[in-house]
Amino acid sequence: MKIPFSPPYIDQNVLNEVEDSLKSGWITTGPKVKKLEALVSNYTMAPEVLCVNSATSGLMLALTWFGVKKGDEVIIPAYTYAATALAVMHVGATPVMVDVEADFNISIFAIQKAITSRTKVIIPVDIAGWPCDYLLINQLIQQHKEQFVPESENQKKLGRILCLSDAAHSIGAQYKSKPTGILTDITVFSFHAVKNVTTAEGGAICLNLPTPFNNTDEYHFLRCNSLNGQTKDAFTKSKAGSWKYDIIYQGFKINMPDVLAAIGVAQVPRYFETTLKERKQIHSNYNDYFSKVNWAIAPPFEDKNSKSSCHLYALRIKDITESQRDEIIELIANEGVAVNVHFQPLPLLSLFKEKGYNIVDFPIAYANYACEISLPIYPQLTQKQQEYITETVTKAVESIV
Ligand SMILES: Cc1ncc(COP(=O)(O)O)c(C=O)c1O
Repeated sequence: MKIPFSPPYIDQNVLNEVEDSLKSGWITTGPKVKKLEALVSNYTMAPEVLCVNSATSGLMLALTWFGVKKGDEVIIPAYTYAATALAVMHVGATPVMVDVEADFNISIFAIQKAITSRTKVIIPVDIAGWPCDYLLINQLIQQHKEQFVPESENQKKLGRILCLSDAAHSIGAQYKSKPTGILTDITVFSFHAVKNVTTAEGGAICLNLPTPFNNTDEYHFLRCNSLNGQTKDAFTKSKAGSWKYDIIYQGFKINMPDVLAAIGVAQVPRYFETTLKERKQIHSNYNDYFSKVNWAIAPPFEDKNSKSSCHLYALRIKDITESQRDEIIELIANEGVAVNVHFQPLPLLSLFKEKGYNIVDFPIAYANYACEISLPIYPQLTQKQQEYITETVTKAVESIV
């Protein structure tokens, strides 16, 4: 049996929406993007949502909006995908990496130790779709208000560290009965090809800024800055008699095209109504299975505060080394099952090593990584395939350990 790791969910509704966009005479940013923004806002309750071409550029745009620049520090977990750190580096600031907890997410204690007068932003990452402890993070930010040194206009207006959630994995997750999208000041989702909701490539910035900010004004500012700082988008400009525009900011060109938004327009309602539940069912089936073997640590799923979006099934194997984990993966791959590892902690990657980050400073991130194997989890997986996966993993583990 051959089982891919994470194929996109493309049903007839997706094909219809994409065809509709292609035949409409307008394929770049326009009505489909507007519709996708409205859908994401509706399901996540975020007051304003701006779609862009990736979560990476969404993070960059949010950091730029806050005036983050060279000399500033942004606290991020060492256990994440490189994009979290790269977004910070692209705006010239320094990523301050901190260790994580056994649930894979950023350590609150480590954040507290890392805050300085140069800290402008904290980027918690909801690894695998499991929300971070936002109550504690937001409390910590309040406690450090005195230490905050505002420079830009938006920093003065906020008067504290910005909480910018990297929710690339966690659309549809919940924390204290609230959906991701309204748990922090700004939340960024990814719609990359392997994500729970995809537009092939894409991302969404959810604005949930407190007063005195006006989220709608900030949406218009960000929208303009995602389109070269141009006062009119191409759709508006293409209307008869509407040719004149101005460039008022040094913006980025990171808008989402309609033909890609069309995929998301079909996916978002389907996800919240059906496919998220299907993912949860598979996560729960895996948990039932792995709770019966003594070598497995199942990933977090649901507790009294949080509900995962079940983006990844991050299985850990007790008491194995990194090289044993790699051997297990090879055996699993030989049986046709594509698994993965999420994530190689950033200090293990050349770029970050060269910049002086050292994995010995992040022992929990390393421990989580060394024994982790991500199993396929997506709505198209049949019961038979799930059973084949659990049997294959068990055989591989038992032959190595
Ligand atoms: C944790 C995390 N943050 C950010 C990103 C970047 O997302 P995108 O590919 O949409 O830029 C990813 C992508 O995999 C990710 O896993």
